[in-house]
Amino acid sequence: MNRKDEHVSLARAFHQKNKENDFDAVRLLHPSLVTARSEEIDLQTEFLGLQLSAPFFINAMTGGSEKTKKINHDLAIIARETDLMLATGSVSAALKDPSVIDSYTIVRQVNPTGLILGNMGAGRTCDDAKKIVDILQADALQIHLNVPQELVMPEGDREFHEWPENIQKTVQSLTVPVIVKEVGFGMTHETISQLQTLGVKAVDVSGRGGTSFSQIENARRPKRELHYLDDWGQSTVVSLLEAQNIPEMTLLASGGVRNAFDIFKALCLGAKAVGVSGTILDQLLRHGIEATIEMIEDWKKQLERLYLMTNKTTTADLIHNPVILTGAPKEWCETRGID
Ligand code: FNR
Repeated sequence: MNRKDEHVSLARAFHQKNKENDFDAVRLLHPSLVTARSEEIDLQTEFLGLQLSAPFFINAMTGGSEKTKKINHDLAIIARETDLMLATGSVSAALKDPSVIDSYTIVRQVNPTGLILGNMGAGRTCDDAKKIVDILQADALQIHLNVPQELVMPEGDREFHEWPENIQKTVQSLTVPVIVKEVGFGMTHETISQLQTLGVKAVDVSGRGGTSFSQIENARRPKRELHYLDDWGQSTVVSLLEAQNIPEMTLLASGGVRNAFDIFKALCLGAKAVGVSGTILDQLLRHGIEATIEMIEDWKKQLERLYLMTNKTTTADLIHNPVILTGAPKEWCETRGID
């Protein structure tokens, strides 16, 4: 089977609806008096010049085959109908084999005016980055970091030393914003600071808690002997806590987002917007386009209710709303000396 098709079918097979993760260890403070008015609630968010009508988006997934072209087509309809930002999967496959390019460009055909992000690995050069932005007329580019995935993948890369230089050059030479993202392994304070020294202005910490690419790639190994890496990495909640106190870095979050409440908690922990992959893919593959649009519209309504319940009118007001940590994230903060 094509590797991209395998990723989709394994992500679907491993996806567990409502599986517990560190978002469950985040509690909110309840105010009994609410002065905000419901008509004032505004979900919009803004970063690096991108204006989003809702504080969540469809994060990078796929492309590179006939089956994934259909998925990108459906995701683009969903993004268009709900006005959500949409990231394609890594366009590297199309740079190697131009015959699959339409499995990515379909998103622009279906959604000519929506916000679209291109995606590539950090092993790619700034010339590749420019091509991808051009091909998709992308509004921004995601560069993904996925060392554990490559190492568990039988045919994956084994050298990563050029990544920092590639990232630095790409950030310097692109005219659209660049977001450096993980793929479900999370980030530490040190990683984010290092990225900042390379000129990176925005990161998506994409942490553990949902899709696991070490698990997916291990399932593609004949002996499946690297199962002990299935839950490698920092959770999304822990990564957001690690990311506190890095001035002038735009934080985005993804990884294990199951519902509107997880989005809300990630915003409270400092994210300007929240990416969702596994939960949206699962809904689309199980229940189709209409049901996925319905779920997203429902999440928007739920978020409006959560803003009002915590006496917040805008997403900007909500970011860094105090939370109470319990369990593993609390222990992590104590060990790492995070206030
Ligand atoms: C992904 N993800 C991903 N990320 C990326 O930067 N480039 C890519 O090509 C892909 N491909 C991909 C395929 C599939 C099928 C899935 C489900 C995911 C990773 C994704 O963007 C995200 O970082 C993680 O999946 C964690 O989020 P969820 O799935 O837990 O919401």
